[in-house]
Amino acid sequence: MTDTVFILNGPNLNLLGTREPEVYGHDTLSDLEARAHQLGRKLGLSVDWRQTNSEGTMIDWIQEARTKASAVIINAAGYTHTSVAILDSLRAFDGPVVEVHLSNIHKREAYRRHSYVSEAADGVICGFGAIGYDFALQAVADRLGTTQESA
Ligand code: DQA
Repeated sequence: MTDTVFILNGPNLNLLGTREPEVYGHDTLSDLEARAHQLGRKLGLSVDWRQTNSEGTMIDWIQEARTKASAVIINAAGYTHTSVAILDSLRAFDGPVVEVHLSNIHKREAYRRHSYVSEAADGVICGFGAIGYDFALQAVADRLGTTQESA
């Protein structure tokens, strides 16, 4: 059976492409989604791509992942730096968790340097723009062993 990976995107990421392109790049969220589905297929993973501006919805999705996903890739955007509730929900998820940020959060304002998400993540990828999601999918495929099965 194909493993499902939830790729969960937080607030304001729906504005990608037009929001501070000098920081976040010119690709839209739909561009990133298409790319993730394509790479997911190659890696033997089924990608369930979502975006929300709401903290509660993000938590509901992480809880849903407990029974529907083998791994979670999350860019919690602004909630990364504020949400103990998102951290708690990630801690209740048993599979691999990969944290992604388009920008290098350590090279920016001091308030972005702390991530609650990191405390529940197996690994963190930040600063590489859109390709960071590719790296995250590769990391998940490696952890789940799907690359070998689909090769
Ligand atoms: C972000 C970094 C966060 O600090 C910021 O609030 C975002 C996007 C990133 O992908 O670089 O909205 O998660």
